[in-house]
Amino acid sequence: MTKIRSVVLGCGSYLPEQVVTNAQLAARIDTSDEWIVQRTGIRERHIAAEGEFTSHLAIKAAQAALTDAGLDAQSIDLIVLATSTPDNTFPATAVAVQHALGINHGAAFDLQAVCSGFVFALATADNFLRTGAFKRALVIGAETFSRILDWNDRGTCVLFGDGAGAVVLEAQEQPGQAATDRGIVTTHLRSDGRHKAKLFVDGGPSSTQTVGHLRMEGREVFKHAVGMITDVIVDAFEATGLNADRIDWFVPHQANKRIIDASAHKLHIAPEKVVLTVDRHGNTSAASIPLALSVARKDGRIKRGDMVLLEAMGGGFTWGSALVRW
Ligand SMILES: CC(C)(COP(=O)(O)OP(=O)(O)OC[C@H]1O[C@@H](n2cnc3c(N)ncnc32)[C@H](O)[C@@H]1OP(=O)(O)O)[C@@H](O)C(=O)NCCC(=O)NCCS
Repeated sequence: MTKIRSVVLGCGSYLPEQVVTNAQLAARIDTSDEWIVQRTGIRERHIAAEGEFTSHLAIKAAQAALTDAGLDAQSIDLIVLATSTPDNTFPATAVAVQHALGINHGAAFDLQAVCSGFVFALATADNFLRTGAFKRALVIGAETFSRILDWNDRGTCVLFGDGAGAVVLEAQEQPGQAATDRGIVTTHLRSDGRHKAKLFVDGGPSSTQTVGHLRMEGREVFKHAVGMITDVIVDAFEATGLNADRIDWFVPHQANKRIIDASAHKLHIAPEKVVLTVDRHGNTSAASIPLALSVARKDGRIKRGDMVLLEAMGGGFTWGSALVRW
């Protein structure tokens, strides 16, 4: 029986011009290139310019995704933007993107699941498309984490960067076979608020009326990450009957190379199938997966028909996976 699937028509990304290397950070705080590379795999990150907002990055990524898809913005009727660093407390950054693209039909809203934001946004858009509520969606992950970092906390400020990525999804009828259908085949989302204090921002409109800074118990996050990531990927395999051998590309959230390597190893995913950008981008939270997708599309790795496995884990904790046939 045929099935409506959300098929990826294009993807795009944008990184701010300014690159900050580990050596540049080491000139300002008590850290070293060696420590950062060894513990995280990060070598450099992009940092937004003064006056460059999350919406500005998101608009450029969305335009690149539309160009890649060969589509006019007017054909988009849904925008879901994942961010933890919105331009304003409200309205949603998504409406600034919608307006900049000249769209005033359909719906646009933000979604907050920190580093898992893109997977949550993809699953949300997928559900709207499969019910027939919308036809074409822009799913965006965009962040300016540099604005919520405590630049005197060497345990966190070396880890993050700014950037944005986007994909265009279209509701299309497919034959209804998880193993061969194009589009999003399955998504699995989880959260557990017991871990809230391990990774959070110590401010907000209702609590302190300040923006606040990111706080993290790095070791605690590390301890839970691999188990949560692999569990939710096993859920995806069990739901579809697919396994690691059937995956062409593993595009994980780019937080830390050690977490990515350990997850791939535990799942028996071959290292050459893993798309890694954390060395050049740092952790860009909700933007990291679409940024990595964009890199692997542009350099010719991900091709039409490839099975792509996405996963993310972040503050909350939240975590999730998605299987997408390109
Ligand atoms: C953050 C992380 C790299 C820290 O590595 P770690 O091995 O756990 O290090 P610890 O925090 O235990 O600190 C070990 C030592 O390094 C020091 N240190 C911390 N940051 C440092 C830095 N940037 N440069 C140099 N030394 C640093 C600590 O002060 C500590 O020193 P001490 O032993 O003298 O007290 C690691 O915990 C991690 O990757 N966690 C997951 C974070 C993550 O991915 N979060 C995002 C999820 S979406």
